[in-house]
Amino acid sequence: MNDQPARLAEPGLQLFGAASSVATATDTLFVALLLLCGAMALLLAALVVWLCVRYRAGAAVDRSDPPSDAGALETTWIVVPLLVFLGIFAWAARDFLVEQRPPPDALPIHVVGKQWMWKLEHGSGRREINELHVPQGRPVELILASEDAIHSFYLPAFRLKQDAVPGRVTHLWFTATRLGEFRLFCSEFCGSEHAGMVGKVTVMSPAEYARWLDAGPVEPGTVQQGFALYRSSGCSGCHDAGSTVHAPMLQGLYGRRVQLQDGRSVTVDESYLRDSIVLPGRDVVAGFAPIMPSYAGQLDETQLQQLVAYLRAGAPSNPTPEALR
Ligand code: CUA
Repeated sequence: MNDQPARLAEPGLQLFGAASSVATATDTLFVALLLLCGAMALLLAALVVWLCVRYRAGAAVDRSDPPSDAGALETTWIVVPLLVFLGIFAWAARDFLVEQRPPPDALPIHVVGKQWMWKLEHGSGRREINELHVPQGRPVELILASEDAIHSFYLPAFRLKQDAVPGRVTHLWFTATRLGEFRLFCSEFCGSEHAGMVGKVTVMSPAEYARWLDAGPVEPGTVQQGFALYRSSGCSGCHDAGSTVHAPMLQGLYGRRVQLQDGRSVTVDESYLRDSIVLPGRDVVAGFAPIMPSYAGQLDETQLQQLVAYLRAGAPSNPTPEALR
């Protein structure tokens, strides 16, 4: 483990020196697979060479009674690899599930992939392009969307990669364990300037990160901007408590299970909220008429993220900056 802050001046892709909470587990699995496959390849190659030499034409070996039943041997070479591979599956699935479930206290940061840059927005409203500042030792949840093509947010030193897919909300979470600067790539061919879609992640101490957030231009936070959109786009006209239109209440809706008109039920997450804004006719809640107009094309991905962040925060009627951290 290297305790020196990483510098981007160091050459190479930072394939060594794990820098996130999940990186060590991924490396362990990778090295174990490499050793296992290497050992098997060596064993098979050695057997091939040894058997070729021993049973070559003219060699004085006993060929009088070839075995006709190799049941025990066959059972062994079926059962042992089967158990080994099932074990690898269970091991990898466990790591995968950890990577799929952001802790509830993770710091949300919104990321939009766009030809050809990464646009990022912290909860406080501070924005950056092709750079990501995060505190060390605190779980961070990236909420990804794409404005156009499929992009892929790739952090080699963190051993993490997640596609940003148009029309979908995807997630990535990690806890940065090492201070310093790390490379950030787009790893999905997304157009002529794909190769230029690179950047860096700066991991800072929590105190430094707080100072960095405060040093930026004073802007409304993500949730506050979502609230402003909630009113300016006309959502409040139907979804507020005093409205004469029969529309679902949005306060505290996030995370709940709702019953749909066609009998299905869904858990309200970011994807469901985003879809309900751009495809309102698809998942109509039971007891409501499908009267909501679609906002597809009227709100860009950043605005959709802000609106969804506001709903995720419980759709408070007076969001405060304090509610963001
Ligand atoms: Cu974006 Cu490649």
